[in-house]
Amino acid sequence: MCGIVGYTGKKEASNILIDALKKLEYRGYDSAGIALWNNGKINIARIKGKVNDLKKEITGNGNLKGSMGLAHTRWATHGVPSERNAHPHRAADVVVVHNGIIENYLELKEKLKKKGHRFLSDTDTEVIPHLIVNHIREGLNFIDSVIATLKELKGSYALGIIREKKRVMIAAKKESPLVIGVADGEYFIASDIPALLDKTNRFIFLEDDDVAVMQDGKLSIFNIDGKKIERPVHTVHWTGAMAEKGGYKHFMLKEIFEQPRVISDTLIGRIKEEKGVVEFEELKLPDITKMKKIWMVACGTSYHACLIGKHMFESILSIPVETDIASEFRYRNPLVRKDEMLILISQSGETADTIAAMKEGKKRGAYTLSICNALGSTLARESDGTAFTHAGPEIGVASTKAFTTQLALLFLLMLHTGKKLNLLNSDEIRKNIGEIKKIPHKIQTILDMSPTLEDLARTYMKFKNFLYLGRGINYPTVKEGALKLKEVSYIHAEAYPAGEMKHGPIALIDEHLPVVVLSPGDQTYKKTCSNIEEVITRQGNLLLFTDNPDHEMAPKAKNTFFIPETIYPLQPIISVAPFQLFAYHIANLLGTDVDQPRNLAKSVTVE
Ligand code: G6P
Repeated sequence: MCGIVGYTGKKEASNILIDALKKLEYRGYDSAGIALWNNGKINIARIKGKVNDLKKEITGNGNLKGSMGLAHTRWATHGVPSERNAHPHRAADVVVVHNGIIENYLELKEKLKKKGHRFLSDTDTEVIPHLIVNHIREGLNFIDSVIATLKELKGSYALGIIREKKRVMIAAKKESPLVIGVADGEYFIASDIPALLDKTNRFIFLEDDDVAVMQDGKLSIFNIDGKKIERPVHTVHWTGAMAEKGGYKHFMLKEIFEQPRVISDTLIGRIKEEKGVVEFEELKLPDITKMKKIWMVACGTSYHACLIGKHMFESILSIPVETDIASEFRYRNPLVRKDEMLILISQSGETADTIAAMKEGKKRGAYTLSICNALGSTLARESDGTAFTHAGPEIGVASTKAFTTQLALLFLLMLHTGKKLNLLNSDEIRKNIGEIKKIPHKIQTILDMSPTLEDLARTYMKFKNFLYLGRGINYPTVKEGALKLKEVSYIHAEAYPAGEMKHGPIALIDEHLPVVVLSPGDQTYKKTCSNIEEVITRQGNLLLFTDNPDHEMAPKAKNTFFIPETIYPLQPIISVAPFQLFAYHIANLLGTDVDQPRNLAKSVTVE
């Protein structure tokens, strides 16, 4: 998974491309490159490193100028991060940037080698410009050569293609995201919308097998058979400022602090307190009374939202929900059927495994509902219905505000379902709406205690391993807490259901192991107290998070952090916030790359 951008217009392209590319760095950041077209010549610069290194490399280089160009930030799949494997890749006068994986590249490479083509990288991408050149040599024009090449490729791609001979930029996509930004006499391509928000708010979302040709200030879109097609231009209401740090040191911190507002944004328009209903006007939901089963499937943090959603539906409505990790779901024989609802959760809407799970569900006749944050994303476009979280662009690789808005939305969906099935009456809905409306304020009180969490982070930052324990709906919360710590601080953290600790992890406990326990005063309270005793007896270093001001284990804890109380199904939305800040502060104190942790990418568009 990589980020690609392109520009064609009257302005100097280099700064535009570098600017946009920086906003895509969350997708990959091990190497970067740029190609600029200037009066029939294309000059390329590539480096191993980040976009800032690329910027330094091209600054003052008079050759790297032009009014059309492509750029790329890479997350290596085929070929180690290095200058020669960095994009753009070139064959003769054809230059390509690519996000995706060409599965049959070895076979194609062998054929091309036999025809005398020489390869300079270990990437799958390099076959693409060579195939195009091969077709041009056979006599096809540029556009037809691209189309003929696409027909030979197996796998996924978002492509930007230019050639020296003609001032034309071609974009194509299949199973990897690509949008076209439209402005006056200029066109942009990018892997996602936020990269271009300070340039335009008008976008075309390309569909699979579309080929877009931008030439002489005009855009034409063709299908893979070369037939001209139309795609609508959408106006999006996100702004450039939303994708900036706005005075915060890191995007992650800014996004954690945005949670009260974006949770409110996700509720607005959907909760009708007086009527005692929750409505999704934007969404044509199927007749929920006919749905025989609900599934929730996702990856990473979004999968933790599924686990919490399951508890919400089961604890309030007594409706069973089956959950799965998308990469598992798609490769087992998921017994999902017609008249069942498959809910797919994804911030980006571009996670390859989640999209594949959606397709599998559709194939088997289920109604697919996606909960997405990114407008125009593949999942949003291809599911039967989409409910959007209104988190705004999330740039930090570690997901925070997207997660809590997913939880808010799942809670609303649970209330909506409860009403439709006559499991909740208007008074009960009203009461629940009242509770969720208080959530933004309660999260704010935790954010106000960020300095306390920073002190805790200072105390714990030197430990090498952490054990996180929770029960019931808070087991997924501690899973998310442990994941946050791993992702941004590179400290090993394992989450366990508190009651299961005695079946293994207890062997790890001594004074060198911080044990982070989330223990609210709910139905799990007493049982968790016993588990905490087991930790204390073995000299475990207890860090307790609780909403119970009189928690009986607090005197035995090394440190206790108090969180506001709420009803059981809403606990995770609040209690994850201190974990996010704890992880953030540890990472910041350790000096890791918080927004772009090593080896991770924000949106995993490959299997
Ligand atoms: C990557 C990101 C995670 C994210 C997961 C699922 O692993 O680093 O932060 O939770 O993908 O992404 P999605 O966009 O589908 O929610």
